[in-house]
Parts: sequence; C-alpha cells; structure tokens
Amino acid sequence: MTSSIAQKLLAWYAENQRSLPWRQTQDPYAVWVSEIMLQQTRVETVIPYYERWMKRFPNVEALAEAPLDDVLQLWEGLGYYRRAHYLHQAAQQIAETHHGRLPQTVEQLRRLPGIGPYAAAAIGSIAFGQDVLALDGNLRRVLARLSDLDLDVRSPAGERRLREFGEAHLPAGVASEYNQALMDLGASICTPRSPRCHACPLTGDCLAYERGTQALRPVRRPKSELPHATRVAAAILHQGQVLLGRRPQGALLGGLWEFPGVEREDGGSLAALLKDELASRLKIRLHPARPLGKFDHSYTHFKVTVHAFACELREGEPKSGWHAELRWARPADLESYPMGKVDRAIARRLMEESASVT
Ligand code: ADE
Repeated sequence: MTSSIAQKLLAWYAENQRSLPWRQTQDPYAVWVSEIMLQQTRVETVIPYYERWMKRFPNVEALAEAPLDDVLQLWEGLGYYRRAHYLHQAAQQIAETHHGRLPQTVEQLRRLPGIGPYAAAAIGSIAFGQDVLALDGNLRRVLARLSDLDLDVRSPAGERRLREFGEAHLPAGVASEYNQALMDLGASICTPRSPRCHACPLTGDCLAYERGTQALRPVRRPKSELPHATRVAAAILHQGQVLLGRRPQGALLGGLWEFPGVEREDGGSLAALLKDELASRLKIRLHPARPLGKFDHSYTHFKVTVHAFACELREGEPKSGWHAELRWARPADLESYPMGKVDRAIARRLMEESASVT
C-alpha cells in the first residue's frame, strides 16, 4: 500500500516538477551523464554543460571514441574533473564489454568507474525503473526532517535510519518519481535554510514541523576548518610563447594544463620561491617580471591562494619530473588548453594584459 507521504509527494510532483532537459528522455546514457554532472553541482550550472555535452557526445560510442582533451574541454568550469575522466573511461568499458549499453542493475552499475552508491541508485531508478532509494543531499535533508532524525546524517547509524525511513515509504514501480520528487521538494521547499513549510505538501506528516525542529535538522558534524595552502605560479614567457605543464593522471586536476608553480612551505618571499625553487625544479633560470594577481579557490579538502607572476626565461630548456608533458603555447591559443579554475583565471589575466600592451 502506498504510504500517505508517498501519495502526497507524488501528487505534488505531478503538478510541480521542474522541467529539466534530462527529464525529457529515458535514454540511460543521458540519465547517467546528468547524474554525474549533478553530483556536487547545482542544477542551473549543469543545464548548459549537459546540453553541450549531449550535442557533442550523443551516445556511449561518441564519448568512448572522443579524445580526452575534448572531454576535459567540455567539462571545463564544472569542477571535480575526476568525474569527466571516469565518464570517459566508463564509456570505453561499456562500449567494449556491454555493446555500448549501460548495464541495468545497481550492482553492475557500481562496477563502472565513477559510479558510487548514489549514482547507481539514481540511474537504476530513473533509467531502469528499479525500486531503489537514491540518497543524495536533498533526500538526506528532507527525510531527516520528516523523521526528525537526531543523529548525524553522515554517520553510519544516521545513514541507516534515513535509508530505512526512505525505503519504508518508497512505492513499488515509481522510484524514479519518488526520488526526483524528494529532490525537487528539497530544492524548492525543504531548503537548507528557511524552509517554506507553508507551501509544503507534507507538513501533516513531518515530525520536525510538528516539533518545530526544522532548523536543527539535518544534524551535521561541524566541518573542521579546511587547510589553506599558498602557492606561486609562473607564466614563463619566451619568444612570445608561454610555458604550460600538463598535470599527471591521478593527481588533483589530472590531465589539465597549468602554469607551473610551487607551494610556499614557510613565510619566504614569493620572488625567491620563483627564482630559486621553481626555476631549479624546471632546470632553468628565471626573472620574475611582474605580478599578475592573487587568485583564491576552494577545493573539497583545502583552500588555496595562488600568487601568479609573469616571468622571463633567462636560460635553459625547461624540464619537469612531475608534469606529464611541458609545452610552449601561444597566448592566443590558451583557450584551447583545458585548465582548472585558477589557471584559467591566470590565462585570462595574461591575455588581457597582452591585449592592453599592444
Ligand atoms: N539532482 C541529482 N539528480 C537530479 C535529478 N534527476 N533531478 C533534479 N535534481 C537532481
């Protein structure tokens, strides 16, 4: 029998669901791409990326055959680049071992690179109609409030209780709608701060609403302060070209291009770090010519401030024991090298500068 929560939720979803491009199709490939993009990234940000991606790589074969650089370039700006590498690798596996079709069970989906418990459940329910709960951040919050869960939702016990609660209300045969209804409710009404309970179809079933504890749910461990790194990076110029290094596979932002840099371990001067440490790693001599600016970025596990400098190559042919490859690029071509956010900002600053000098 369908629970009262599920009935009201599905009726609300039928009227109020968001119109999203990946909801116009049942193609498992499209569902997979959208779910991977939507992990850690907001719906509004994902939509244009998803549309460009589906035009350029409309199916598993097109993605499997694409050069990695094209894949990374389409991903540029979405962050968490490992997701793009995994999509590419998984497409190659699916093309080789599953005749280009996504496997249908949660267990088989889990064996593909980049597909964790959430993505497997989301694809299993949305693309293949399996009766599984896709527990993402929105569902955690909504279910924690409905059940007024007083445990940390990321703890094993908290996760178990949320799953039990969510699965107990999951109606057979419509997990796709049930999961996506909870996602939409979490995105539009049961929001992290100031939930709009007056507009919620589930207030009559919500324990947190009844007890006035909405603001206290979900319970989370306080995040410890992220460590903060300070780096210098050099746009090394020589005969009108600038040096780029390709980050090795397996590293953070693996496969992307960067302006070579080093981390400041102590409080030493930035210019000395460039002239001594970076130059000796690259086996060259450098002259730090001028500052290009200070760039801040937060990754999952740390924050970084990068001080970038334009430098002139004084002597030597650069070599790197760490980069997968070094290349001299024309500043006008920098847009065609996939980069992380900080390096892209440095590249744009460099190009603005050279445009204003000429
Ligand atoms: N977030 C993750 N998956 C989603 C989906 N299918 N619809 C809306 N938001 C989502």
